[in-house]
Amino acid sequence: MNKNTVEFRLFHEFYKAAKNNLTQGAWDYLIGASETETTLKRNRAAFDSIAFRPRVLRNVDHVDASTTLLGKKLRMPVVLAPIGSLQDFHPEGGAAVARAADRFGTISILSSVSQPGLETTAAACQGPKIFQLYVRGNEAWVEDHIRRAMDAGYVAFCFTVDLDYYVKRERDIAKRYVTTGRRVAGKNEEHQRRFSWKDIARIRDRFDIPLIIKGIATAEDAKLAVEHGIQVVYVSNHGGRELDHGRGALDVLPEVVEAVNDNAEIIMDGGILRGSDVVKAMALGADAVGIARLYGFAFGAAGEAGVLRVLEILEDEIRSTLGLLGVTGWSELDQNYLHFGAPLVQAPGYRSAFPLLEEGY
Ligand SMILES: Cc1cc2nc3c(=O)[nH]c(=O)nc-3n(C[C@H](O)[C@H](O)[C@H](O)COP(=O)(O)O)c2cc1C
Repeated sequence: MNKNTVEFRLFHEFYKAAKNNLTQGAWDYLIGASETETTLKRNRAAFDSIAFRPRVLRNVDHVDASTTLLGKKLRMPVVLAPIGSLQDFHPEGGAAVARAADRFGTISILSSVSQPGLETTAAACQGPKIFQLYVRGNEAWVEDHIRRAMDAGYVAFCFTVDLDYYVKRERDIAKRYVTTGRRVAGKNEEHQRRFSWKDIARIRDRFDIPLIIKGIATAEDAKLAVEHGIQVVYVSNHGGRELDHGRGALDVLPEVVEAVNDNAEIIMDGGILRGSDVVKAMALGADAVGIARLYGFAFGAAGEAGVLRVLEILEDEIRSTLGLLGVTGWSELDQNYLHFGAPLVQAPGYRSAFPLLEEGY
């Protein structure tokens, strides 16, 4: 690890360093959400309104935070969610993020609108990776991407399905900011709007690669995903960047867990900024969670080494939270360790995870 990143000890230090390094446009693209940003606030509110019920006087000398997803061993149940235009945060883009995930011992999901692209990223990192597609072409175009991802060794293929329409991300619009990814891929959105369960059924029949549907926000759609033979149901509201006034992603998780009924694996993302957040989602039945902005801060702050460091800090927090709850592994954790409905004074934003920032630290 380079000397610089050892200096980072707290998550909010990455936040401050990234804010300092990035252009105002790139920074606002990273932190922003849609319209009133209410979905984003609810993502955090969902975490902040759950408290823990810890058990004591148990032997917690050895805590194991590892798990498996899609048959792959993960050092902790946290994957790197897809971020478009990573090259706007650091010139090495998605290849460096994939390497950081692999060096740590987890999986990254490469966005189809991040550079350096599908094949180059695969060549830059041998570890397990997932490819995520926005549908920007017809059947043949989509199938070509699946074939290319299979040829390049991606272990699963992810369709993000919660952005049939781009809503206003007002921080970007106010500055007339357009990411490099969107400058290239911002056309042909009608293909995404027409993409449906019929396409999923056809793809499921034709290709032998695990499929992930990202952007599930109801039990009804989770059931449909299972009926369509999807391996991973990915609960997400795109970090509050698409439909405004959605539910907090963590609030959606319980009904999806019930609907899936162990017939698929479940990833959840949206608002995860602390090890305790990961533990709450796992206690509610997720098999793994995704983080996006948290590693985005680290990437903007210190590139690949920054992402690796953020994962190490997150792992420390997860392990200490588990130990303090009196459990030594995920199989011992369930909802009995949670208390719902602790009152909130005000709906928190992202900074609610970093109290020192609020104090101008
Ligand atoms: C800057 C940025 C770019 C994103 N780009 C993509 C993308 O290309 N594809 C995608 O499926 N989701 C994208 N997302 C959504 C994330 O994958 C993830 O669902 C969400 O941000 C998780 O919430 P969090 O940022 O609170 O961790 C993006 C999120 C951010 C913050």
